[in-house]
Amino acid sequence: VGPIEELLERRYRVIGRNSPLFYEKPLHLVRGEGVWLWDADGKRYLDAYNNVPHVGHCHPHVVEAIAKQAATLNTSTRYLHEGIVTYAERLTATFDPSLSMAMLVCTGSEANELALRISNVMTGGEGVICTNFAYHGNTRAVAQIGTVFPPPEGFGPHIRAIAPPDTYRGLHGLSGQALEDAYVDEVRKAIESLEAKKIKLAAMLICTVYSSEGLPNVPPNYMRRVVDLVHKAGGLYIADEVQGGFGRTGRHMWGHEAYGVTPDLVTMGKPMGNGHPVAGVVGRADLVQGFTDRAMYFNTFAGNPVSCAAAKAVLDVLENERLLENAVTVGDYMVAGLGRLAGKYPSIGEVRGKGMFFAAELVKDRGTKEPDGAEAKRIINAMRDRGVLISRIGPHDSVLKIRPPMVFTKEHADLLLATLDEVLAAR
Ligand SMILES: Cc1ncc(COP(=O)(O)O)c(C=O)c1O
Repeated sequence: VGPIEELLERRYRVIGRNSPLFYEKPLHLVRGEGVWLWDADGKRYLDAYNNVPHVGHCHPHVVEAIAKQAATLNTSTRYLHEGIVTYAERLTATFDPSLSMAMLVCTGSEANELALRISNVMTGGEGVICTNFAYHGNTRAVAQIGTVFPPPEGFGPHIRAIAPPDTYRGLHGLSGQALEDAYVDEVRKAIESLEAKKIKLAAMLICTVYSSEGLPNVPPNYMRRVVDLVHKAGGLYIADEVQGGFGRTGRHMWGHEAYGVTPDLVTMGKPMGNGHPVAGVVGRADLVQGFTDRAMYFNTFAGNPVSCAAAKAVLDVLENERLLENAVTVGDYMVAGLGRLAGKYPSIGEVRGKGMFFAAELVKDRGTKEPDGAEAKRIINAMRDRGVLISRIGPHDSVLKIRPPMVFTKEHADLLLATLDEVLAAR
């Protein structure tokens, strides 16, 4: 038994076998820097998966900000501190002016939980529309929203999970305008079905890049039309930016901007502190103020000076290193490279990219589009063995998920593409 097996056994004993691990051969990582990770044997991996180390693993500016603040003061928000105020000002300044207030929490799950509470209290409704195969977090209320990991408690009568929009797989064999209409109809039907049960709509909560759903392309006017329906039914539009936010999509700071529709509430997490657990809700002032007038909200760790220093440092690096521009340049380069591989290998049915976030649909047959989850599994494990980390997503686990730290360059892209070429050829 080697050291990895020994550590695995110890982990199974105290953490359990069901705590998920990536890859058939789990990785024992000991160090990170930029887009690179090293395992305990000193082997180096190109990280093309992790979005939490948004500006790169162990970015010195973020590390220094955390260390300096941790050595000075760390308290809760029940004391005045400039850190949270300055950060909330800087954060809200990146949104439409209507989204002018921020509440900080510690995880994406908490952010979505809080956004749901605000929606319930401010609309008087209970109903929530979400998409099939979505993931939004692990609290009791949030585990109900999305079906990727169905909660053993079951779904409450107030949940309606609709088909996520997807121009590749479509719905009922439709395309173009008819497909958009059919997806909009999903929301209309969900609202009607809630009304039939006398459940008032509180919110539609969606991931702005539909990450767990497989990064599908969305029909052009879909979002404007469904948000109109939600508003007419008295509900709020909650944009989950845990995956799509902080410039991930390159052309925008926030994923929802691509649709030209401003949300009522926005939730965020993962990349916000580059690995430090900080998350938040940004929303309309009337909603945040109205909710906090009615509910005392306090969160011991949220918005502490160290978290705010980390989060502020992430915004600094995004600006100083022009990482949104990098996501556009390198993103377009990667999509072109993946497109060339799709030209060579018919197992790639479609390539999709949103800034520094890429997906490749693996199919058994391009005509039938039958998903090939087994091939996706083979590829990600073979890539791992060759030192490149990616993963897979989607309803059939058949979509390669490539989502590197934002400091990914064309040279890194070349290495990833060459390795993927080798792995696809080695089938
Ligand atoms: C879109 C989305 N929302 C929310 C969450 C939950 O965030 P956390 O794990 O920080 O609670 C996740 C986590 O994967 C996510 O992908």
